[in-house]
Amino acid sequence: MRRGLFITIEGPDGSGKSTQIQEITEFFRKRGEPVIVTREPGGTPISEKIREIILDRNHREMDPVTETLLYAASRAQHVAEVIRPALEDGSHVVCDRFIDSSIAYQGYGRGLGDCVSIINAYAVRDCVPDLTFLMKLDPGIGKSRIKKEEQDRIEMENAEFHERVFQGYEELELQFPDRIVGIDAGREVEAIREEILQRIERLLQR
Ligand SMILES: Nc1ncnc2c1ncn2[C@@H]1O[C@H](COP(=O)(O)OP(=O)(O)OP(=O)(O)O)[C@@H](O)[C@H]1O
Ligand SMILES: [Mg+2]
Repeated sequence: MRRGLFITIEGPDGSGKSTQIQEITEFFRKRGEPVIVTREPGGTPISEKIREIILDRNHREMDPVTETLLYAASRAQHVAEVIRPALEDGSHVVCDRFIDSSIAYQGYGRGLGDCVSIINAYAVRDCVPDLTFLMKLDPGIGKSRIKKEEQDRIEMENAEFHERVFQGYEELELQFPDRIVGIDAGREVEAIREEILQRIERLLQR
């Protein structure tokens, strides 16, 4: 039985991830192929509870290592309970943020470095995305698209933090050129959609 495609979307807050996920989902539905859409941190009842702990604006004292382990714990449950079973069942999976977010935000943003990849290798095992779209947009522009009162604990971090995260993403793009596709997210929704769907079609033809 053919395994489904595992596609993840990455990038700064407000860079258009959710907008393009809707387009990708629509694309698979029109083809009559099963697809599930999910997000991180979250995607299962246990993972959503962990998400609440991570993103709570009152948890200002959270240690970066605690933060990293909570993201990884949430991800392990998500992979085991939702992502792996769906892929094995032949469904495509589109996930809003995944392992690259941890490497960018905790590895580069918090400065924890390589330990983030090592911790996450346990959470993910062989469940690595087939294709990752990196929505490349200046973090300041992304932030300006989101309402201040709706910002979570990570979104509230200062501009320097978000710059380091973006540099982390750019490093990842260089490190994994076969998997990560950088997308100029400063363009119109329609142009971005066309580029993303072309890449997916190319992968489906293989
Ligand atoms: N290409 C685009 N050009 C201009 N505005 C856009 C574009 N794509 C999305 N937007 C708008 O920017 C805002 C943020 O988009 P979206 O919610 O898709 O981003 P996101 O990356 O999912 O954000 P978050 O990190 O908050 O989940 C929305 O109001 C959306 O309508
Ligand atoms: Mg979103």
